[in-house]
Amino acid sequence: MTETHTITVEPLGTELQCREDQSILDACLRNGVWLPHACTHGTCGTCKAEVLEGAIDYGDASPYALLESERAEGAALMCVATPREDVVIEGDVEIEEGITMYPVRDFSGTVEVLDEIAPDVRRLIVKLDEPMDFNAGQYVQLNLPDGDNRPYSIASAPHERDRVELHIKRTENGVATAGWVFDGLAVGDAVTLSGPYGKFYFRPGREKPLLLLGSGTGLAPLVSILKTVMAIEDDEDGDGWEHEVVMYHGVALENGLYDRQWFQDIADERDWFTYRPAVSREECDGRQGRVPALLAEDFPRAGGNVAYICGNPAMVEDTMRALMKARLFPRDIYREDFFDAADRANGAHVVRSPLIKR
Ligand SMILES: Cc1cc2nc3c(=O)[nH]c(=O)nc-3n(C[C@H](O)[C@H](O)[C@H](O)COP(=O)(O)OP(=O)(O)OC[C@H]3O[C@@H](n4cnc5c(N)ncnc54)[C@H](O)[C@@H]3O)c2cc1C
Ligand code: FES
Repeated sequence: MTETHTITVEPLGTELQCREDQSILDACLRNGVWLPHACTHGTCGTCKAEVLEGAIDYGDASPYALLESERAEGAALMCVATPREDVVIEGDVEIEEGITMYPVRDFSGTVEVLDEIAPDVRRLIVKLDEPMDFNAGQYVQLNLPDGDNRPYSIASAPHERDRVELHIKRTENGVATAGWVFDGLAVGDAVTLSGPYGKFYFRPGREKPLLLLGSGTGLAPLVSILKTVMAIEDDEDGDGWEHEVVMYHGVALENGLYDRQWFQDIADERDWFTYRPAVSREECDGRQGRVPALLAEDFPRAGGNVAYICGNPAMVEDTMRALMKARLFPRDIYREDFFDAADRANGAHVVRSPLIKR
């Protein structure tokens, strides 16, 4: 049987049990101790914490996310570190006022929808055996047939609790995508996943206009946020929604603008919502260019907004820069970088950016 060790999380003094084959972050999140994390795959450095006592296995930590010098000083990445004996860590436990964080749990379900919604993009809807609580913007880890897992953002809204919708882009030679979701997975199949994860979630209490900025399948968590705003608008007991929401969807080719009509219909029906498709590599029926460039044109001054950016790391970084140039401060910008195994291996766009909030 796999051995279990005690993890003590300071400064809380909380003690919890963690298996030798389980990451310390996973044990914490399942026990309601909310350590900061983003990629959960040793790539971004968000979960870095100090190991005060006890031996650990450092796991598959990217050398770009955890430098040798940091390791020598006692730091480790909690999302890939596993205990070898009882361990004491000093964690930056996050508690945000007005936000309920839900412990991570395992879920099983059945594939209900698996549609090609754009070239090399699939909508996967899993009907869950038990409902999941999460905040709009968070993600799940989808378990692969080989026992590994991959993070995918949830596009459905928290009030649609018994299903999760994912938007998955095919990666050439990708184990999860080219090797399974696009080749073998079928409607009716049983799947398992865990969640909810991540600190990229909607803060409805901030009461400001929203900029929702996504590229490719980076649109997924923004759709969850948009649906949540629509639910707030329709909530008869609440004060409704009074702020402008502008959503950009950046794609290379026009046929990548999935669900375009759905967004346009929402925009036509509501004066607070604007949908701005952005096509970068061909002439199109609409505006041509990358999201950061179009954003800079439209918002020479972006102060007063709250921005949520999601997609490939290069787009996220460039969009972050465009927003800061337009005088939006980092405290008003939330980002989700879709890091993959290549980013973990080569460190591209990872961690050292002063613009990444850690
Ligand atoms: C928080 C988060 C949320 C995400 N949400 C979404 C989402 O909603 N939708 C979505 O489409 N994607 C999302 N992603 C990306 C997703 O998790 C996967 O990384 C992506 O689907 C690729 O998985 P794969 O198994 O197909 O590819 P992998 O097999 O993991 O390979 C990915 C790439 O890395 C290369 N590679 C593999 N191993 C190495 C190595 N050792 N050295 C160098 N290169 C290597 C491969 O050739 C390939 O190009 C998200 C990522 C994160 C971190
Ligand atoms: S969450 Fe651990 S490195 Fe990204």
